[in-house]
Amino acid sequence: MSGNPWQDDLGNRDRSITNPHGMGSVMRAAGGGKATDAQGNPFLIGKEMSGGYGRGADILHGCTIAVERGEIAVIVGPNGAGKSTAMKAVFGMLDLREGHVVLDGEDITKLSPQDRVVKGMGFVPQTHNIFTTMTVEENLEMGAFVRRDDFRDTMEQVYDLFPILRDKRRQAAGELSGGQRQQVAVGRALMTKPKVLMLDEPTAGVSPIVMDELFDRIIEVARTGIPILMVEQNARQALAIADKGYVLVQGANAFTGTGKELLNDPEVRKSFLGG
Ligand SMILES: Nc1ncnc2c1ncn2[C@@H]1O[C@H](COP(=O)(O)OP(=O)(O)OP(=O)(O)O)[C@@H](O)[C@H]1O
Ligand SMILES: [Mg+2]
Repeated sequence: MSGNPWQDDLGNRDRSITNPHGMGSVMRAAGGGKATDAQGNPFLIGKEMSGGYGRGADILHGCTIAVERGEIAVIVGPNGAGKSTAMKAVFGMLDLREGHVVLDGEDITKLSPQDRVVKGMGFVPQTHNIFTTMTVEENLEMGAFVRRDDFRDTMEQVYDLFPILRDKRRQAAGELSGGQRQQVAVGRALMTKPKVLMLDEPTAGVSPIVMDELFDRIIEVARTGIPILMVEQNARQALAIADKGYVLVQGANAFTGTGKELLNDPEVRKSFLGG
């Protein structure tokens, strides 16, 4: 398959911040097998979704976002386009008026967010994604709330992926830098051993260097076999590591293609990537 980020080694240049050992087998979830199921569905898809908040007007208008097994899918688009709304819809935080959410061949449209976590979805929202007054370790423990088994191995894997969190595990998460907080948020989501990880703007408000670092870690997670569906405002950099990209405008799909196709599309470049 073309556009595979690790084959092209895109966005993963700095070996010093990439964990060469991966996260071990415990987090290997959806790896292997075919990209789509028997019905041709990707591993996770929010299909032709329409709906809004409460009784308000529709924000999503037949919007589709998806991620295949073993891939990274990136959603970009202007502020207010409905990117976060689409992610919330896939996670079950919005009542859809039309459309379906299918996870690994199962229609989960009617499930609550908590039940979707049990089914294997990990979600890092755009805001309020950590408990600032709790320590780093308590945040990770909170992440494991649906688990009844021993999660210490998973915590060690999160610390292997984000070593700074091990050093700061007794510190209140609110005292950490922006990039470190995002690591806590991603780590918390990984604590459930998700089969798919959804990230809403994981690099918001961090410096370019920290953004590169976070992208490297996200690629690392994807390598362990966890497909990643993420929203990014750093469109160029994100599409460079994306197998699949979606440009959303006003709650609908404007452009869809491989990351490379979108980066090379003149209209996408002009309208969404600053030329
Ligand atoms: N909780 C809410 N209740 C009502 N309307 C909302 C709510 N959250 C978002 N909206 C509206 O939905 C539309 C899409 O917002 P959304 O946050 O999904 O956009 P976005 O693409 O994620 O933007 P950004 O790039 O700024 O994160 C906006 O018009 C917004 O005002
Ligand atoms: Mg948003």
